[in-house]
Amino acid sequence: MTPPAGDVELLASGRDADVFALDAQRVLRRYRDGGDVTAEVAVMAHVAADGFPVPEVFAADGADLVMTRVAGPTMLTALVSGDVRVDDAARTLAALLHRLHAVPPRGATGSVLHRDLHPDNVILSPTGPVVIDWRDTTEGPPDLDVALTALIIAQVAVDDSPLTGIATAVLTAFLAHARGNPAEQLGHAVTFRRANPTLTEREAALLTEATRLVRAQV
Ligand SMILES: Nc1ncnc2c1ncn2[C@@H]1O[C@H](COP(=O)(O)OP(=O)(O)O)[C@@H](O)[C@H]1O
Ligand SMILES: [Mg+2]
Repeated sequence: MTPPAGDVELLASGRDADVFALDAQRVLRRYRDGGDVTAEVAVMAHVAADGFPVPEVFAADGADLVMTRVAGPTMLTALVSGDVRVDDAARTLAALLHRLHAVPPRGATGSVLHRDLHPDNVILSPTGPVVIDWRDTTEGPPDLDVALTALIIAQVAVDDSPLTGIATAVLTAFLAHARGNPAEQLGHAVTFRRANPTLTEREAALLTEATRLVRAQV
């Protein structure tokens, strides 16, 4: 795929990827460290075919993914600005997970899981929430996805930042709305989060604290 021209607008730069606006309708998401989007694109097509809200994929090649430019703020941005209430955001997260896990599985190893479904990976579009960032998708037990969402939010809640209060409130509301029994899979969720090669010593300590915070509420 040709590199974006010089005048292309950089919309966002995350931990792994840069996202460029190609035009009013399309973005290019490019992994900085290379990689292959084939697997995540296949899952996006699979869940989209069942009606799950994901951006439409127009082209995929190596580390590049061209998809619908979804209008609207991320759920995180909307929480910070006060445009969405904590309880509504938490309910939406729980509903998205429940809906995703109802998609007929592709293989024989469990439900489709996202494994990174948190407020910065949900765009609140005028037609409803849309889930992005499918890099960590796999198949497995739904409780693992619920435990991971809780743990990711808890990692923000235990870190001292302007988001601490919001994350603490979202975590409690999310666990109240979420289905299943995330306690069952919390250990596996921690193992998965700990396996991140970029985890610093400080993040590892916060992960232990985050695990305690979730454990106390499930
Ligand atoms: N299809 C899209 N439409 C509009 N904005 C997007 C889209 N995909 C990503 N973004 C923006 O780029 C950010 C980073 O994208 P994401 O796929 O979550 O990558 P990362 O792995 O870096 O978190 C998102 O939080 C969102 O602001
Ligand atoms: Mg993301």
